[in-house]
Amino acid sequence: MANLLIPWLFLVQTLTLVAKSRAKVPAVIVFGDSSVDSGNNNFIPTIARSNFAPYGQDFPGGQPTGRFCNGRLPPDLISEGLGLKPTIPAYLDPMYNISDFAVGVCFASAGSGYDNATAAVADVIPLWKEVEYYKEYQMRLKAYLGDEKAKEILSEALYLISLGTNDFLENYYTLPNRRSQFTVKQYQDFIIRLAADFVKKIYALGARKMSLTGVPPMGCLPLERTTNIMEDHACMEEYNNVALEFNGKLQGLVAKLNRELPGLDVVFADAYNILLQLITRPYVYGFEESGIGCCGTGRFEMGFICDPYSPFTCQDADKYVFWDAFHPSEKTNRIVSDHLLKTSLAKFI
Ligand SMILES: *[C@@H]1O[C@H](CO)[C@@H](O)[C@H](O)[C@H]1NC(C)=O
Ligand SMILES: *[C@@H]1O[C@H](CO)[C@@H](O)[C@H](O)[C@H]1NC(C)=O
Repeated sequence: MANLLIPWLFLVQTLTLVAKSRAKVPAVIVFGDSSVDSGNNNFIPTIARSNFAPYGQDFPGGQPTGRFCNGRLPPDLISEGLGLKPTIPAYLDPMYNISDFAVGVCFASAGSGYDNATAAVADVIPLWKEVEYYKEYQMRLKAYLGDEKAKEILSEALYLISLGTNDFLENYYTLPNRRSQFTVKQYQDFIIRLAADFVKKIYALGARKMSLTGVPPMGCLPLERTTNIMEDHACMEEYNNVALEFNGKLQGLVAKLNRELPGLDVVFADAYNILLQLITRPYVYGFEESGIGCCGTGRFEMGFICDPYSPFTCQDADKYVFWDAFHPSEKTNRIVSDHLLKTSLAKFI
């Protein structure tokens, strides 16, 4: 008997290994704001756009795409790192169809947030509507691949979720409404509840593998430093503290959701600490500047204010941690993506 058992055990182990290597992510599906929008805003009437030079100057082909960057964004780089396509197309872009979207699709919209009122600021796609587009995508995917194959892709896909910064900076700290309703701690809790609702919504629709990205050191975004005149344009301590506190709550939410929802595997993606390292020790990573962006004077330009005729725009965006006054350069996106692939996302590779 013992002799018979050993080959069986061996076979079972081998089959388990095969099953594991097959459990690779077949698609990357993206929800969020400008940190991950690959160009949906080009197709809606909003001023929150970046489909013109100098945006995209280092993108393959040198073309502006609507990505708020000189090159690619983290979802593009993560998709490539997972062995999928090197860029993730925007769902609203008529240049792409369901055969492209079957391996990667982006529903994100620059300027959006968890809070409906945040998307309303620049008239962009609110998160609930990103989910409506996702539902439409599910129907198109089922029509294209059949029910069974589509369901398999939808449950095995990696969902990258990245937003929250605009809720604080464009909404809470800029407009009076939410500030009159909530203290900043209460507003964090409100956003956490909305994040929980969102995860539950896409879980109910079949999503299982998710990465919830925390907010960056918001007080070190060049635009925020520009306003910090009293402290000689240092990082805004208060905004960084709010970001850390919010990220802590988001981590708590991630643990809770993993306990409560069977089969869910959601990870917290921490971009805060790696970004803060780049900002405080830029030379270690080959950067020369982390206080201002590359575009224009680097202090306030973003979107349509970042224009191709500014004589101040830097020559080499790789020397800058930030591309414009609010968004990282491609080199920064690459360092952050590589870091995430090695840490929180490693289990999905
Ligand atoms: C998608 O577009 C490609 C080329 O643009 C075309 O070859 C393909 O047939 C299209 N697929 C569908 C499902 O429409
Ligand atoms: C956001 O707006 C959608 C659509 O109007 C609505 O269904 C949803 O309840 C709103 N969310 C909140 C938290 O108000």
